[in-house]
Amino acid sequence: MNDGFQHFNLWGERTSKSIDPLVMKLNASFAFDVRLYQEDIDSSLAWARGLVLVGVLSQKELLTICQGLETIRLEFLEERFNPSPSDEDIHTAVERRLMEIIGPTAGKLHTGRSRNDQVATDFRLWVMRACDALLPTIIDLCQALLERAEAGREVVLPGYTHLQHAQPITWAHWILSHFWSLIRDKGRFAAVRDSAAILPLGSGALAGTSFPINRQAIAEELGFKAISQNSIDAVADRDFALEFLFALALMGVHLSRFSEMLILFNSREFGFVELDEAYTTGSSLMPQKKNPDPLELARGKTGRLIGHLTSLLVTLKSLPSAYDKDLQEDKEPVFDAFDTASSLLPVLSGLIRTLTLNPNRMAAQLEPALLATDITDELVRRGVPFREAHRWVSRAVRVAEERGVPLNSLQQEDLRLINERFEMDLSQVLDIHSSLEKRTASGGTSQSALSTQILAAHQALGRSSSK
Ligand code: ARG
Repeated sequence: MNDGFQHFNLWGERTSKSIDPLVMKLNASFAFDVRLYQEDIDSSLAWARGLVLVGVLSQKELLTICQGLETIRLEFLEERFNPSPSDEDIHTAVERRLMEIIGPTAGKLHTGRSRNDQVATDFRLWVMRACDALLPTIIDLCQALLERAEAGREVVLPGYTHLQHAQPITWAHWILSHFWSLIRDKGRFAAVRDSAAILPLGSGALAGTSFPINRQAIAEELGFKAISQNSIDAVADRDFALEFLFALALMGVHLSRFSEMLILFNSREFGFVELDEAYTTGSSLMPQKKNPDPLELARGKTGRLIGHLTSLLVTLKSLPSAYDKDLQEDKEPVFDAFDTASSLLPVLSGLIRTLTLNPNRMAAQLEPALLATDITDELVRRGVPFREAHRWVSRAVRVAEERGVPLNSLQQEDLRLINERFEMDLSQVLDIHSSLEKRTASGGTSQSALSTQILAAHQALGRSSSK
């Protein structure tokens, strides 16, 4: 077994003893950082080109190295890559295999480079690509929300604060509230991508490289926007990974809030919406059950996303200068958080597109007390100070409640008992549609404000309105 470990000795002759197999196992990250193979090969190709310009590699050697690396890429792609027990991580695995394929020329590739700047480069490149992969799925979910908003402009339901009936809103307005939080997430992933796009390669182990490598050219070739300015910082900086995890955790928080409301709305008690059966699961015991599992998982997996962010924050806290092996713990939370979000987003898009609304159930909940604010607003328009109006109306609500009648059944004499200046025909004021329509200020419930909002939503998605 130990022979295998000695097969490719990364540390040269530094140690006389072979490493304990359990230490080797503990130390190894190949099982998970194999996901960086594309990025490792891409950054090695760019590095090799850089080495030609400083005279370390000839054109011929470059060609041999490039062909060797492409052969390895194909082996990974076609799942033919044979890891060796000595492959501590993806970087050693690729170098070991290159040696096997092209011989001693492979040994020149690591000139002026350390795994410390290599892993930072590969990981940044991976996060950049992960952001690119996530963005279309976030945009599609936003698109699904927007489609449902446009189709539900006239559907009215109670709006809630403290999960209590507050004021009437439209379905479009409600669903767009979740659209906007996702739009902020979209912006966050674009910003994380920019944060990640700083090239560490050329920082060596911590002190830079003594070969006059054109780092800028490597950055451009790999799609980085700039190069790092301090080699010590460059090999230790994992801010981009934290920012990525934060963006994922916050997106999870947004999705969990949305999911929680849909779970409630889908319950028998609310009955505002019905999930398509393709998005529910049955119970092994209770034949009547249709469970909203995808929404519960969106809610539940958010715990995991927050956990990954916390885990990396704690790993990074108090780390001494430059690279420490603790940093190897940065990858698994990032990979898992990405996988979690990637599996959730398309399911939520489908769930939203197939959801059935039940406007009658929503309308049944539109009790007149939802319009209590409209009565105070009307009194204010007639010159009553707001605080006083609020007192009168809250008393009217209590009177109606005590009598067990709807608010709009109170008559003029009932109101006059509360205050002699409280003169109003409540049946005139208490109209849901005019209440919605009164809120014309941008961001409000009126149809004109909603049209403006929908237009802005299309613009936020980078599209022109379909209407
Ligand atoms: N597998 C390591 C990681 O993921 C690569 C860097 C190792 N560097 C070192 N000096 N041991 O962080």
